[in-house]
Amino acid sequence: EAIEKGGFEHFMLKEIFEQPRSISDCMRGRLDAQKGRLVLGGLREYLAKLTNADRILIVACGTSWHAGLVAEYFFEEFCRIPVEVEYASEFRYRNPVIREGDVVIAISQSGETADTLAAIELAKSKGAIIFGVCNVVGSSIARATHAGAYTHAGPEIGVASTKAFTAQLTVLNMIALIVAQKKGTITEQKLHELLVEMETIPAKVERALKLNDQIESIAAEFKDARNFIYLGRGYNFPVALEGALKLKEISYIHAEGYPAAEMKHGPIALIDEEMPVVFIATNDSSYEKVVSNIQEVRARKGRVIAIVTEGDKLIPKMAEFVIEVPSVHEALMPMVSVVPLQLLSYHIAVMRGCNVDQPRNLAKSVTVE
Ligand code: G6P
Repeated sequence: EAIEKGGFEHFMLKEIFEQPRSISDCMRGRLDAQKGRLVLGGLREYLAKLTNADRILIVACGTSWHAGLVAEYFFEEFCRIPVEVEYASEFRYRNPVIREGDVVIAISQSGETADTLAAIELAKSKGAIIFGVCNVVGSSIARATHAGAYTHAGPEIGVASTKAFTAQLTVLNMIALIVAQKKGTITEQKLHELLVEMETIPAKVERALKLNDQIESIAAEFKDARNFIYLGRGYNFPVALEGALKLKEISYIHAEGYPAAEMKHGPIALIDEEMPVVFIATNDSSYEKVVSNIQEVRARKGRVIAIVTEGDKLIPKMAEFVIEVPSVHEALMPMVSVVPLQLLSYHIAVMRGCNVDQPRNLAKSVTVE
C-alpha cells in the first residue's frame, strides 16, 4: 500500500497532487489550442442532438453534482442552452418533465452510483438521449448511456473525490466548447483564448499545490473549529459547496457552502468572532460584490480566510488569511480555486486524527439507495 501511495501519507493527498497530471491526461489527444484541435471521440454520433438541445438536464450526486453546477454556468454562458442540475435521487422519484429535445448528461466518478443509474434509466424510458461523464471505464453508467466521454483521471481511492472533480470539469468544459463552436455561440477568437487557457490549467494547479505548507499552517489555526462557512459567487459558488463538502466528509466539522449574497438570508446570523468564513474571492465579474460580502463578515468579527487571485491588493487588508492562486479566465477558475480547499480539509482532518481516506459512514461509491 505504501508503494501505491507513492510516498504520500494518504491516497487523498496523492490524488490532490496528481491533478496537474490527471487534468492534462484528460485533455491529451482531445485539445490542442495551437492546432485548433478540440475533439471528443465519444461525442461524435450524438453531437447534433446536443447542439440542438432545447435544454440540458444534468444528473449526479455528491461531488459530481457540484461539477454539474459549474457546468451549468459554463454551458449557459457559452452555448446559450438552459441547464438544470438535478440530484439524481430527487429526479428519479418526482415524475420529472422530460421533453423531446432534452438531453441528459450524467456525471459519475465510479459509474456505479445507484441513484444516478436509476435517473438515467428513467430518462431513457422517456426517450431522452443520455451522455455519460464517467471516470471508471466500462462501469454500469458508462454502459447505460448512449454516448459519453471518460475523464481519464486514473483510479481514485480516497473516498473524498478530488482529482475526479477537476477532470469532470475538464471534460464538461470541452463538451460545452465543442457544442458552442458548432452552434456558433462562441467566436473563434474567444474559443481559441479559452483553449489556450485550458492548456495552462495543469501548470496553474501545480502552482496552487505549492501553497500546501501555507495551507497546513492555516489548518493548524482552525483545526478545532466546530463550524465553517464557505462563500463564493458565480463560478465559485459551486466551489464553495465543494469546499464545505470536503471538510464535512473527512474532518467531521459542520460546514455550509452558500452563494455569498445569499448569506444575508440566514447564515449571517451564525457569524461571530469564532466563525471561520472561507471566501472564494478570485478576480472575476463578481469580485466587487464578494468584497462587500467580506466586509459584512468582518463587521460581525467573523474570521475570514480568502482565496484570491495572485497580486490582489484589496482583500489582504480585510482578511485574516489570504491564499493566492494564479489568475485564469473566470469560467475555468473552479479547477484552480478548489485545490486550496481540498488541501485545507485534508490538513484539518489529519490534525484531528481522522481517517482521511476512509471517513466514517461514507462509501466510495453508493451502489444502494
Ligand atoms: C459518494 C462518494 C463521493 C461522490 C459521490 C458520487 O458519496 O463518497 O465522493 O462524489 O458518491 O459518486 P460518483 O461515483 O457517482 O461520482
